[in-house]
Amino acid sequence: MFFKKQIHWYKIFNNIEAANAFVKIGSVNTLNVGNKKICIAHTSKGFFAINDKCPHNGASLSNGYCTKENTIVCPVHRYHFDLITGRAKSGGGDCAQTYPIEIRTDGIYLGLNETIWKLF
Ligand code: FES
Repeated sequence: MFFKKQIHWYKIFNNIEAANAFVKIGSVNTLNVGNKKICIAHTSKGFFAINDKCPHNGASLSNGYCTKENTIVCPVHRYHFDLITGRAKSGGGDCAQTYPIEIRTDGIYLGLNETIWKLF
């Protein structure tokens, strides 16, 4: 196998206070991580990361808002996307890419799948 998928973890905040200051509970914000624009949502269930580009028609999800049902609402056509699975709650096949977030003792990390080339 020449190509291998692995998760690359990016430290996005030094601590929980920095994360709370960047995205208050009940709100969303954007971060550029790797070569991706990521929407960070903060709900009562924690921090979530989802691709900022809406899979329906490309709007910026970070211009939307999150709900108590743990979804993010696109600002254009108001589709709701589950922050854990990325699936549209309104049916249809639209699904946004979500990313894992880990709170560690030395900071908060976001994982991106990357494909690396490896000869052996
Ligand atoms: S562009 Fe997001 S729901 Fe249509």
